[in-house]
Amino acid sequence: MENTDYIKEVLITHEEIVSYCKRLAIEIEDTFSEEEEIILLCVLKGSLPFTAELLPNFKRPNVICEFIRASSYEGKTSESKGVIDISCNTLEIIEGKTIIILEDILDTGKTLEAIKGYLMAKGAKEVKVATLLDKPERRIVDIYADYVGFTIPNHFVIGFGLDYDEKYRNLKDIVIPYPEKL
Ligand code: PRP
Repeated sequence: MENTDYIKEVLITHEEIVSYCKRLAIEIEDTFSEEEEIILLCVLKGSLPFTAELLPNFKRPNVICEFIRASSYEGKTSESKGVIDISCNTLEIIEGKTIIILEDILDTGKTLEAIKGYLMAKGAKEVKVATLLDKPERRIVDIYADYVGFTIPNHFVIGFGLDYDEKYRNLKDIVIPYPEKL
């Protein structure tokens, strides 16, 4: 049987995430003209489930999905290293365009600050941010998201892309774990 002993509380259910992704696609489509491309930039690895859930909700064909890799956390710890490593193979789509960064969580804001700076330096016209989770209590950098799914308190959370030691990204819900049981 599935072991769920490590789950202290289910914070956000999969159904709530699915429902938000439907609303978000409509909201984004409403702010872009029909002719304008919607360029989504999935921040690997955590935003992969969010991106995959959101993408099929767009009704129009001119939605482009690209990927950027940003990493700030080390191994098993849940604390930021303060050093953001960024790599992106699709720079040609950035120049002169409005990009929507897709994040699983906006925490200290250091990752987002680094990615935004990176994209602007590569010639993006405008950079918007859609984050599934926002943890404003943890913010160090003065940065915000244009679209926020769920504002959450300062708890360590895992699931739906969010990991602990690279594991638990596959959980459908976002949960607060008992750290000693992970
Ligand atoms: C996590 C998360 C965000 C970032 C947020 O990524 O996916 O990108 O941290 O934290 P911050 O606001 O404090 O910068 P992580 O570096 O753990 O990489 P991952 O997506 O591969 O898990």
